[in-house]
Amino acid sequence: MPNRTRWSLNSPKSLLMFLIPPLILVFIWRFLPRTDVFPIYSNENTSLPPLYPDLQDEERRLPQHNLDLPYPEGRSAKMLRFGNQIWGLGLNNQLQETLLNTYIAYLAQRTYVFTPFTWDLNNRPFVPIAPDGHLVGSPYKVRPARVPLTAYINSPTTGSPWPPGDPAPRSVSVEWWDRVCPESERLHINTAVVNAQIGVDFDKDEGIDIVEKWAKYIRSIEHRCINILFATPRIIDFGGDYKRHCEWLSTFASFEGWNRLPFLPDQFNPPSDSASRAQYALNRCWIEIDDVVKRLDKLREEHPDADLNNIFVSTNGPTEWLEELKKRLWEKGWQSVVTSRDLELSWREQGVDNAVDMELAARGEVFLGNGYSSFSSTIVRIRMVRGLPPKNTRIW
Ligand SMILES: *[C@@H]1O[C@H](CO)[C@@H](O)[C@H](O)[C@H]1NC(C)=O
Repeated sequence: MPNRTRWSLNSPKSLLMFLIPPLILVFIWRFLPRTDVFPIYSNENTSLPPLYPDLQDEERRLPQHNLDLPYPEGRSAKMLRFGNQIWGLGLNNQLQETLLNTYIAYLAQRTYVFTPFTWDLNNRPFVPIAPDGHLVGSPYKVRPARVPLTAYINSPTTGSPWPPGDPAPRSVSVEWWDRVCPESERLHINTAVVNAQIGVDFDKDEGIDIVEKWAKYIRSIEHRCINILFATPRIIDFGGDYKRHCEWLSTFASFEGWNRLPFLPDQFNPPSDSASRAQYALNRCWIEIDDVVKRLDKLREEHPDADLNNIFVSTNGPTEWLEELKKRLWEKGWQSVVTSRDLELSWREQGVDNAVDMELAARGEVFLGNGYSSFSSTIVRIRMVRGLPPKNTRIW
């Protein structure tokens, strides 16, 4: 504590020190170029969703946020930021793209720049939930504008080390990127221009071909700070109103993401004429109580080894609908039927209740997902990564 004395209020030096910081702050505010970073606010009001500022602090303290580390990290690290990354869509839409982008950065041998889970890019802590929004069952009327990504995932995408022996550089936060790659040092890449240049053909190329063409192109660039701009091809998904979406999707869409894995037992094989196709697709998307009861009965028969007795229903359906469903399932002899609405979660857990549901679903002995759901797709992915047998990962 020897320095304390020098900070005594009586000393003229300390008065100067007190005056200078506000001036500096104003200066920075006015003259720095626009940055990518928007704050995660602090919030202790439990009538509002949690914002996890402590997790942002932890992200800040990642050991790779250090200029003195040797290449491929440190001051010469070659970074890849996807400035075009989607925001304002549900968690699993954002996760899909985030994982794909991590993979591209990995193949390109670059540091992936991760961002918060983002509903809004404005400088405010919360945004209203639209009437048809995802969080129908949410106790809150607003959602966080941004949540640190580590509230949901803890993985190489969010800066954890790659497996031992893998020389890939660890991911860094967008806040770090903003600091070490200021605007003047960024190389902005326009995807439309590059797609033409590297011969991406969306009609002919498989997804993996496109990813590899991009990775090869980015590997060929020496520039330290690459920022990808404009729309890259994305897997676009949909929001919470399933009925309307199912009707719309049934006319053209196939299953979402990982739900299409060719070794899963329930493939999407629609008839070719358009009317029957639409009906087939609608039947596999929009599900009423009778259908659920029948399908779960059948599932119990199809998985005799699993000794299925208990059901967890991940849902944002209305309470009356769920009570009816429970009643019908109990009549069929299921021992327990629990829904998302029955979970008792702490304030911090409630803020990531969708991830809690996903973890429960990922651990189910048998999982039955909706093929059109990116939520289901992530669960399928987690189950496959964990080595669970594909035969127990079912699609409606
Ligand atoms: C907490 O937030 C709610 C909803 O915005 C508000 O009505 C209430 O006054 C806040 N409580 C405190 C103590 O700030």
